[in-house]
Amino acid sequence: MLKLRCFILYFLMLPVLVYGQGNVRLRESFNKGWKFFAGDEKEASKVNYKDAFWRSLNVPHDWSIEGDFSNFNPAKPEGGALPTGIAWYRKSFVVPSSSKGKNVSITFDGVYQHSEVWVNGKYLGKRPNGYISFSYDLTPYLRFGKWNVIAVRVDNSAQPNSRWYSGSGIYRNVWLETTGEVRVDLWGTYVTTPEVSESHAKVSVETSLKNSGAGSNVILKTFVVDEKGKEVGKSEVSVHIEGKSAVANQKISISNPILWSVDRPYLYSVVTEVYIGKKLTDHYVTPFGIRFFNFDAKKGFSLNGQPLKILGVCNHHDLGALGAAINVRAMERQLELLKAMGCNGIRTAHNPPAPELLDLCDRMGFIVMDETFDMWKKKKNSKDYHLDFPEWYKRDLEDHVKRDRNHPSVFMWSIGNEIREQFDSTGISITRELTSIVKRLDQTRPVTSALTEMVPQKNFLFQAKALDLLGFNYNHAKYDSLPLKFGDYKFIASETSSAIATRGHYDMPSDSIRRWPKDGKTKLTEGNKDYTVSAYDNVSAYWGSTHEETWKTVKKLDHIAGLYVWTGFDYLGEPIPYPWPARSSYFGILDLAGFPKDSYYMYQSEWTSKPVLHLLPHWNWQEGKTVDVWAYYNNADEVELFLNGKSLGVKAKENDDLHVMWRVKYEPGVLKAVSRKGGKEVLVREVKTAGRPAKIELLADRKEIRADGRDLSFITVKILDKEGNVVPDADNLVKFSIRGEGFIAGVDNGYQASMEPFKADHRKAFNGLCLAIIQSSEKRGTIVLRAVAEGLDPAVISLKAR
Ligand code: GAL
Repeated sequence: MLKLRCFILYFLMLPVLVYGQGNVRLRESFNKGWKFFAGDEKEASKVNYKDAFWRSLNVPHDWSIEGDFSNFNPAKPEGGALPTGIAWYRKSFVVPSSSKGKNVSITFDGVYQHSEVWVNGKYLGKRPNGYISFSYDLTPYLRFGKWNVIAVRVDNSAQPNSRWYSGSGIYRNVWLETTGEVRVDLWGTYVTTPEVSESHAKVSVETSLKNSGAGSNVILKTFVVDEKGKEVGKSEVSVHIEGKSAVANQKISISNPILWSVDRPYLYSVVTEVYIGKKLTDHYVTPFGIRFFNFDAKKGFSLNGQPLKILGVCNHHDLGALGAAINVRAMERQLELLKAMGCNGIRTAHNPPAPELLDLCDRMGFIVMDETFDMWKKKKNSKDYHLDFPEWYKRDLEDHVKRDRNHPSVFMWSIGNEIREQFDSTGISITRELTSIVKRLDQTRPVTSALTEMVPQKNFLFQAKALDLLGFNYNHAKYDSLPLKFGDYKFIASETSSAIATRGHYDMPSDSIRRWPKDGKTKLTEGNKDYTVSAYDNVSAYWGSTHEETWKTVKKLDHIAGLYVWTGFDYLGEPIPYPWPARSSYFGILDLAGFPKDSYYMYQSEWTSKPVLHLLPHWNWQEGKTVDVWAYYNNADEVELFLNGKSLGVKAKENDDLHVMWRVKYEPGVLKAVSRKGGKEVLVREVKTAGRPAKIELLADRKEIRADGRDLSFITVKILDKEGNVVPDADNLVKFSIRGEGFIAGVDNGYQASMEPFKADHRKAFNGLCLAIIQSSEKRGTIVLRAVAEGLDPAVISLKAR
């Protein structure tokens, strides 16, 4: 059943070629066959410009990730220390003569940033915001049956413009859409479910129609289909299009709906058919879900009548070694890793996400806080979006809401993160205006904003009295007093923790908590020389907390609807607490390569019911050293620890403990933990002292991938001793060679201060591990990856591209 659902959904997400429906709407990927030039070229918008010497590539493309790290790059380490600048893209394409009389448009899901677009030398417009989706009507300027040229100038040269790594270029998908003259407008359906019960649901569909021909009477047929494509309800109305556009409203009742939930994210679709007389002129599909939810000031969040704590993470948009260039499988892998940890929520920090991320959240079951802005009129960086806000905020916010409002995974709109206008009265009117823009387009979800000012009188976003849900960042110690201070409001911990760690690195004592940096004034003096941070969950930024500190608080407060931990994954840029050469963040529960840090298992032990026993740290220390041994566990009453067969005692979590600890005098050998419930063994974990690096092991997350030129296999590379134990400090340089129908899309090891390039055929291991990301070509066949390192037995893995 699951397979069938994934199969159907996969096709819903593909470019929709509706030949069966009379070829009325053709949504084609426009990603292939672009020419690229890094630099500015005055004449490049002209049709006859000679781009033959430009580089050929496909988008999504991020030119920053291909560059070298440097402290002199204007984006600075905060922005990822990679090159930015200006670049051009051009693409020549033929529009068939048969498209004459139809409407042809181009949609960019996201271009970072300040893009300008020309078709056949005609200027179509600009779009400053690097995260917003936008579209241009090409119809009047096209040459049907002939070659046409699109030119795109991207300007990411004004720096610094971001507090994190943004990437540069056409880094999301591009679509070419051909429809009849009478058609559903861009993001032209709005599907809501005003009545939902177990026995019935009312589906309300608002359809915006566009007409570039003469005035018309059209018939609008709207169907609701289930995941199998079976019709479960329909409605038909006639609409008179006076002028260029019209809006139609339909209500459709369906019986015994299957409700969307995080455990069973069931999707329906609205299928819209537009007819002139008997002729079908458009066919448009809108996936949606049926669910109801509530935020309650006292009891928190509930979904379909059941209380549900939102257990979320914030994420930036980069995909580690792949940069900002979107790849659906890379996003899906991130969500799979989070889901396995028990995470059920995503906050799209701090901007509109790729549409595919929301498609994935729809079908995998995540509660999304969909965020639009990181700043309004007041800047966070000298060249950031505050310069464009006055002219563009309305358009950007409207387009964001219109694009995303049918996603069942979206449960709240955030109009801003830690907005500076919070601290003065200008915040009042902007909050009111932005909230009303959202409400005009969607009244089914609360509007929130991620706030930091905890004094109500001083918080002018709160003073606007326009937000439905108050989001608070950090300050977990004040959560219990929120109702007292802010009254009968609904609360969510919109951003928490900012705990920092490097995978596989441990500083003792583990039970003393470091704040790095310790305040806003003092430079970090403690720090490690190699820019690592302890992974015992004993370090956080001063404004944050360890993972355990915040979770212990949120866990027991019913009025906090849930939390979004900063962050799920390490991201490029913002390398707090270190300066250069640190160039990526330490906040992730998983590192930049997607390898879990230890806290992953703390969450897993708390957020899932599957049995967990995780033992840390590694077992390679200096003889005689006192080492803190931790275990995260659940579904058990106690854990017993053994060193080389000798019991070091039984421990059980007390009060609100989230782990147990033994202080152990190190001797090499085998550390073993056994968890027991009612005296019966639940799980056993062992960590062994590793010997010298002897061999490489390659493990693929998927051995079979699609031969579509996009799919990925993530290969974990382990450096093992001759017994097969991971060598916890191994840093061998691994060289890759690949044969067959695939290529290396990126390499990484999760080390936050590595200067090695991501686009390479080699990588040093870091704390025993590195990663190679293999991408399929478009041909079916075998892909063979070989990994060698000096002095080690090599390894080979073979994948299938089908
Ligand atoms: C928050 C901010 C995030 C990130 C984080 C780092 O205040 O909202 O974007 O900068 O701090 O701890």
